[in-house]
Amino acid sequence: MAGSGRRGPYSVLVISAHGVELSVGARLLMHDASFRVGPGDRIGLIGRNGAGKTTLFRALAGEIEMASGSLQRQGTLGYLPQDPATGNMYQHVRDRILSARELDVLVRKMRETQGAMASAVAETQTRAMRRYPRLEAQFLARGGWAAESEAARIAANLGIGEELLERELHTLSGGQRRRVELARILFSAPDVLLLDEPTNHLDADSIGWLRDFLASYQGGFIVISHDVDLLRASINQVLHLDANRAVLEVYSMGWDRYVKQRELDERRRRRERVNAEKKAASLQSQAEKMRAKATKAVAAQNMFRRAEKMLAETEGERRAERVANLRFPDPQPCGRVPLTAHELSKSYGSTEVFTGVDLAIDRGSRVVVLGLNGAGKTTLLRLLSGIEDPDTGAVTPGHGLKLGYYAQEHETLDTSATVLENMQTVAQSLTDTECRNVLGSFLFSGDDVAKPAGVLSGGEKTRLALAMLVVSSANVLLLDEPTNNLDPASREEILDALRTYQGAVVLVTHDVGAVTALGPERVMLLPDGDEDHWSEDYVDLIQLA
Ligand SMILES: Nc1ncnc2c1ncn2[C@@H]1O[C@H](COP(=O)(O)OP(=O)(O)OP(=O)(O)O)[C@@H](O)[C@H]1O
Ligand SMILES: [Mg+2]
Repeated sequence: MAGSGRRGPYSVLVISAHGVELSVGARLLMHDASFRVGPGDRIGLIGRNGAGKTTLFRALAGEIEMASGSLQRQGTLGYLPQDPATGNMYQHVRDRILSARELDVLVRKMRETQGAMASAVAETQTRAMRRYPRLEAQFLARGGWAAESEAARIAANLGIGEELLERELHTLSGGQRRRVELARILFSAPDVLLLDEPTNHLDADSIGWLRDFLASYQGGFIVISHDVDLLRASINQVLHLDANRAVLEVYSMGWDRYVKQRELDERRRRRERVNAEKKAASLQSQAEKMRAKATKAVAAQNMFRRAEKMLAETEGERRAERVANLRFPDPQPCGRVPLTAHELSKSYGSTEVFTGVDLAIDRGSRVVVLGLNGAGKTTLLRLLSGIEDPDTGAVTPGHGLKLGYYAQEHETLDTSATVLENMQTVAQSLTDTECRNVLGSFLFSGDDVAKPAGVLSGGEKTRLALAMLVVSSANVLLLDEPTNNLDPASREEILDALRTYQGAVVLVTHDVGAVTALGPERVMLLPDGDEDHWSEDYVDLIQLA
């Protein structure tokens, strides 16, 4: 990337896509899609799970080929993928962010050169003295020390405080790493931002900050999001990817007008259809009468054809999006207290996450875990699930315990195994057909079950992980942000399932709707480990979590 600090005026056309066609395997995701992204274009890309939004981003970023069409790109691009990044995990967080403008390399070279300037060898010293001003000039051109504090400010706004900046990436949770990536990309101030569900791991404060940041962004951006508040506040264009027709519709308007416009379009189409049907019916009945007379047979034929054409030209009612149909089955019987945790403590390196946490999960009880970013909510679920061991204390299974764990990062999925194989590992008592049936109710049909889990879209991975929970007939569910990635319709489905589930649930979420659906009796506050009865007063805390 061109790392020249603040950009000049954003005057160039940045992305221009024309007649784009994208396919994966045998499935057409979109055809004949055209749009542009220039300075000041603030675009929201929406469409149901698996429609192909992420795939379009990958094509724009040059990661994959388009089946046809042309794509012109100028200027710099900052791309936040939907999955947490991998790469050098031993890098420091601060360096990772600064590397967006290659400042980390410059700072290191300047330090080395400073060392060499103190060298006893005259030649080394002279070379270093000549080199240093050049490095410093480059450093200043990219924002210098002010850039470092700018990076720290962006990071802080995204919930990455000073303490985290000094850590190495591998000590961070997946959600924290994703925030680091977001900070890095925003810090790089590219001509175009491509952000794939940037709010997934953010707390309410950070989401609010991001909303304002985007609303006043000088370059262009496309954001994929199901967060209506964010879309309403920040965008001035909508790209709707209609998965049923494989069409990308461009609406040059803000969110609220878009919603109204779509409703109007839908009504207009219905009206046109009704009119056309009426006219076609009367033409057909006329033609029917004329057909009998030999002299009018040709005219009758023409009238039939006109009626047909009329119907073909109006669009049928658009198919409603299919929605997963999920129910958590009745839990297996278990004792009165299926899961107990005693005096749990956990540290990563020198960072203590929490100490002395006690928890008893009664049969059928509902607990929400609240706490600020990094307070250890995911860690607690990992300890309860047995994936990770506590430093001190113990997790004790009660009589008949059957745990179901939904991991935020989908790490319970085997990405190289197929959808069906993943299912079979947790549902050994089910036949192939039964597995396929459950998967079908989670919208994995026919060929989909043969896909390796690694190629699934974000929402599809969530659906698969939930399907695997459903067949496990668990009596204690540990759910870590189960509504992330889901389109609004699928989210409603899982909330419904949660509402009626009879087993015990331990829920971590920043989705107020999810907590309301659960109707918790208790709340556990981290990092202190205090427990309290649930009350409405805790609602504000959820969004901070
Ligand atoms: N290599 C592949 N082979 C087969 N199918 C694939 C492959 N890569 C992606 N897909 C499929 O392409 C479709 C589009 O995926 P994509 O990730 O672009 O969806 P999305 O709109 O971003 O969805 P979400 O909202 O869930 O993130 C999905 O059905 C996915 O399973
Ligand atoms: Mg996606």
